[in-house]
Formats: sequence, structure tokens, C-alpha cells
Amino acid sequence: MLSCRLDPKGPSSGFDPLRERLSSFDFPPEIRHNLSLIEQRFQQIVNSKVDLVEETSGYILNSPGKRLRPALVLLAADNRAEALEKLILWGLTVELTHTASLVHDDLLDRAPLRRGQPTLNAKWGDEIALLVGDFFFAKVASTLAALDDSRLISLIAETIGSVCEGETFELINAHRPDVTVEDYLRRVELKTATLLATSCQGGAILGQRSEEEVAAFRQYGHYLGLVFQVVDDILDVTADEAKLGKAVGTDLRQGLATLPILYALNDGINPAPIVAVLEARTQREEDVLEALDLVRRSTAIERAYDYANELNARARECLASIRSSYRDTLEALTRDLLVREH
Ligand code: IPE
Ligand code: IPE
Ligand code: MG
Ligand code: MG
Repeated sequence: MLSCRLDPKGPSSGFDPLRERLSSFDFPPEIRHNLSLIEQRFQQIVNSKVDLVEETSGYILNSPGKRLRPALVLLAADNRAEALEKLILWGLTVELTHTASLVHDDLLDRAPLRRGQPTLNAKWGDEIALLVGDFFFAKVASTLAALDDSRLISLIAETIGSVCEGETFELINAHRPDVTVEDYLRRVELKTATLLATSCQGGAILGQRSEEEVAAFRQYGHYLGLVFQVVDDILDVTADEAKLGKAVGTDLRQGLATLPILYALNDGINPAPIVAVLEARTQREEDVLEALDLVRRSTAIERAYDYANELNARARECLASIRSSYRDTLEALTRDLLVREH
């Protein structure tokens, strides 16, 4: 079983964030090696004529993210040595897209904490966070220009559009306890799964795979992305904040009916305290904590994990038709994402 770790002491306590980040998953050594090459290239990307832009973009790029998306790129391409330079550029492209969307997401969510440290919006304010997010999107365009492949440009254009649609859909569904599981899945597909699917698809294209295998990898990434967000939404209710590196209960405070919250509302318990927080009729801390506690004590967490498990089985089915030197790693990843703690 792969393991997922975060130093609870946080990045300011003398540990090496680069080393720590790359040990998040137990990938084979050659994958870890190429991930470290991608990591080194990140350092070159943080350069600006404006000190504050350099400081703020370095701050988020050097924080200990799991680098899941670049890892998927390498795995989908079977880590083909002859494609390495392109894989590095594609890994940078998807991680920069992810980083830009996280910076904007934290702004939208008014989130205080990311990767165990204050968010850009908390530390430097909303205007700076907005601009740093845009700065990263500009860097996405630069790496795509270096790749010079219209298939990859289209993929990223569609993906960024999809993340914006998903985040918009989420905003208009906020404070509504009557959203359906279908609505929830639609927004998760748009805001999260598309980028994982795209990471895999681009990796498979650069790895010279057949059309069938490219499509199968995209599907694998899609299901992995759904699992990833369902687990993220469970962790928002159940996690230990120090391990998660993000504030807990953010979704409920924002009025978002995620899968565990939707399940709790239909669990036969009195849903009124949860609905009151969702509809923002109360924002008192003790009411939020009571609502969270009700969700935790219902069957919702178990049912949401069951659902994630089913999605995981679908991800594994996609691997059946794929030839890969990393089948075991790809399968282990589906299981490990279910038991992650951050
Ligand atoms: C967080 O993604 C945003 C979601 C899609 C849930 P990650 O959990 O991959 O974030 P980092 O990069 O590891 O911090
Ligand atoms: C995922 O949404 C973020 C994006 C896809 C941009 P969340 O708001 O649920 O993610 P976290 O919990 O802040 O990482
Ligand atoms: Mg968020
Ligand atoms: Mg959000």
C-alpha cells in the first residue's frame, strides 16, 4: 500500500519541503527521479522583475503539494525516456494549471490554510492572490508554447474552462440543501476530474500510445479524479487539520452540500441543524461544530467511502485494456487515494 505523508510541523520547522513532497507516494525510483527533474524546473519558473510576484509565486510553488498530476503524466507515458523533455513540460503545465486554480479557489473559498501554511489570500490579501493565480496561468501558456502541440493546447483550454464552469456551478449551488447527487457529480467532474483526466491523456499521447489506450487513460484519470474529490470532501468533515494542512469544515461553512453532507441529510437523523448551517441561517461556531458532528456520527461517511470504492473499481477496469510497466503502481494508486489523510 502506498503511503501519503505530511510533516505536521509544517514547512517552517527546518524540514526539506522538496524531499518531503516527493516522498508523498511510494512511486518507483525512476518515476521519483523524473518528478524531481520537474520539481527543479519549477524553481526556474519562479522569476519575475517584481519582487513581490517572485516572493508570492515562490511561496506557493515551494509548498509541499503531492504532485499527483505530474506523476500521472509520467505513468501514463510509461515514463518513456525518449519523450522525457516533453513529459517534463507537460508535467509542469498540468501542475501549474492546478496551482493557479488552487490559488483562485482559496480566494473564492476565503480559505485560511493550504498545505499547512497560510493561503496567499490570507497572507497577502485577495488582490495579490488574484494576480498570482493569473501569473501562473500565464506560465501555463509559456510551457504550452514550448511544447508546441495543438492537441495539448486544446486539452488545457478545455480543462481551464471546465474548472471555471465547475467552480461557478458550485457557487450557484451554495446554500441549497436540495442539490442532487447528480448535480454534485457534475460539479466534481468539471472542477476536479477533468484535470486528472487531461494529465493522463496528455501523458498517454506523448508516450505514443494508441487511440484506444489514450481514451482508456483519460477514463482512468476521470474516475481517479472523482474518487479524489469525494475523498477530499470526506476529509473536509473527518480529517485532522494538522495532517490535512487545510481548514476542516470549510464546505459546510460555505454552504456546500458535498456527498457526505447529502448522505447525512437522508440518513433518517434530524437534518435541521445541518440545513440551518447550509442555508447560512446560523454561522455560530458551535452550530457548525454540531452539524459536523451529526454528519460524522451518521452513516454518511461510510456510504461516501463505499461510493468512492465503486468509482475506484471503475478506474481499475479502465486499466484492464492497457499495456503498462506501471500497472501495479496505477492500481495501488487507486487504493491509496481512498486511505489518504491529506
Ligand atoms: C486539492 O488538490 C484540490 C482538489 C482537487 C481537491 P491536491 O490535494 O492534489 O492538492 P496538493 O497539490 O497536493 O496540495
Ligand atoms: C477543488 O475544490 C479545487 C479546484 C478544483 C480548483 P475544493 O475547494 O474542494 O478544494 P480544497 O478542499 O480547497 O483543496
Ligand atoms: Mg477550496
Ligand atoms: Mg472550492
